[in-house]
Amino acid sequence: MKLRVNKVGGNSRWRWGWKLGLPAVFVLCFFLFLAGFFASILLSQEDVPMVQPTPRLPESVGVGVEFDPLPHGETGESFITSIPFQILSWKPRALYFPHFATVEQCQSMIKMAKAQLAPSTLALREGETAENTKGIRTSSGMFISASEDKTGILDLIEEKIARATMIPRSHGEAFNILRYEIGQRYNSHYDAFNPAEYGPQKSQRIASFLLYLSDVEEGGETMFPFENGLPMDLNYDYQKCVGLKMKPRRGDGLLFYSLFPNGTIDVTSLHGSCPVIAGQKWVATKWIRNQVQND
Ligand SMILES: *[C@@H]1O[C@H](CO)[C@@H](O)[C@H](O)[C@H]1NC(C)=O
Repeated sequence: MKLRVNKVGGNSRWRWGWKLGLPAVFVLCFFLFLAGFFASILLSQEDVPMVQPTPRLPESVGVGVEFDPLPHGETGESFITSIPFQILSWKPRALYFPHFATVEQCQSMIKMAKAQLAPSTLALREGETAENTKGIRTSSGMFISASEDKTGILDLIEEKIARATMIPRSHGEAFNILRYEIGQRYNSHYDAFNPAEYGPQKSQRIASFLLYLSDVEEGGETMFPFENGLPMDLNYDYQKCVGLKMKPRRGDGLLFYSLFPNGTIDVTSLHGSCPVIAGQKWVATKWIRNQVQND
């Protein structure tokens, strides 16, 4: 190793530089070692998300405020509930509920569904048959109500959905638990039934709550191709995976409304399931209606 020293004053200065330089080299090496050491620690944490400074929320959101419950009515509760959610969109009205269910609850729901899976069916419009609608919905599924589930898990989930939506449990259909395997999908559709296509309806679907029971390696997103009104192209290819997409993650919930407050169908609530590319997708759906469900 050669130390660069100003060669002023000839050889004597050069030797002097060497003598004083050696301890300096050790100190330098020591600091380089320390720098390398800390850099390697930082790099090894690369997949841990960096701590982002939390944006200050407006006071009206009430973050960091202690809440005291009020005296409640006969059907009310004695405590304050907090169910975190993110507004994904106002057009359609779509909300994301992170970690809505636990891993154990999701695993149990898959287990109870597995034994009874059958190819999913469609509500048919005039002129449609099982044969000519083949390929629109290729998942397998089953229906199960909270009262049929002896583990009590569906009861808990249903109760939590009712709290999140403030629509009574009695308005929900039975859970529809679905499995999508590689290549399986559900072309874009409405959950509400347009009377012009399906005839007069006794009861209409207001909202849908999807609970993802599994992660999906690749694909399987829930998509809203008409989010915010775009592209609104009637020639749009219903098999394409476009628009607002939500990636399934075990335990996460997605709630969206199919109807406007005035009861007409929100065209931006059109949605579908992108094909699963790798892995499997398990999802439990709760359709919520504007009338009490008797089944
Ligand atoms: C219902 O509400 C939507 C959204 O606010 C509005 O665009 C539509 O014109 C309304 N329809 C009727 C029949 O009132």
